[in-house]
Amino acid sequence: MSLHIAAQPGEIADVVLLPGDPLRAKHIAETYLQDVRCYTQVRGMFGFTGTYRGRRISVQGTGMGIPSSGIYIHELLADYGARTLMRVGTCGGVQPDLQLGDVLLAIAACHDSAINLPRFGGATYAPCADFSLLKAAHDAALAKGIPVRVGPIFSTDAFYHEEPDYWRKWAAYGVLAIEMEAAGLYTLAAKFGARALALLTVSDVIPTEARATTEQRQSAFMHMVEIALEVGAGV
Ligand code: HPA
Repeated sequence: MSLHIAAQPGEIADVVLLPGDPLRAKHIAETYLQDVRCYTQVRGMFGFTGTYRGRRISVQGTGMGIPSSGIYIHELLADYGARTLMRVGTCGGVQPDLQLGDVLLAIAACHDSAINLPRFGGATYAPCADFSLLKAAHDAALAKGIPVRVGPIFSTDAFYHEEPDYWRKWAAYGVLAIEMEAAGLYTLAAKFGARALALLTVSDVIPTEARATTEQRQSAFMHMVEIALEVGAGV
């Protein structure tokens, strides 16, 4: 048992899917995994292990933002031997040609993280995805006929930013979307010599103010989860 995860050694698979919402972790486990066991409920942040096409896979809720998700990611890597981590989350698109429900694969994560910036003394570390996972996810999406876009995203500490138009600068530099966890995930995976990828569905498009309904969010989200599970099953 680690400080924030109640699992015994060996109860968590080396491949872990990471939704922010713990109830999404439950939904993913109940929908896709066989022989499911809930290994933690500490703070309501559910974690489950089961099998997908015979491969042991875990799903762990992380909460929102790098401070919360970083706690779970650190403990998965340091205490439970996780080797392959895939964030499955939502994002706000900042390119006007993005559609609600589009699936993005984050090749790199720019950030304004108050955790990452001091980690490197204010110098710029470039958190990036593991290429083999990125390629496997791209291949799995093509095989399933699910269109995906690959590009850089921006991980912010502040959902409600002081400067509401701050995203325009990032969009002008080619960033596809904004979310709150990927840069921390990529950095911690690098620190522990593990591999990571963030898969994201567009839940809102900031320039057009389009917002997905709950049903739209759910179905697009599950397409993306299926890509992550295929990648996990092949690891
Ligand atoms: N900003 C940050 N994170 C998000 C957003 C957003 O607009 N949409 C979904 N996650």
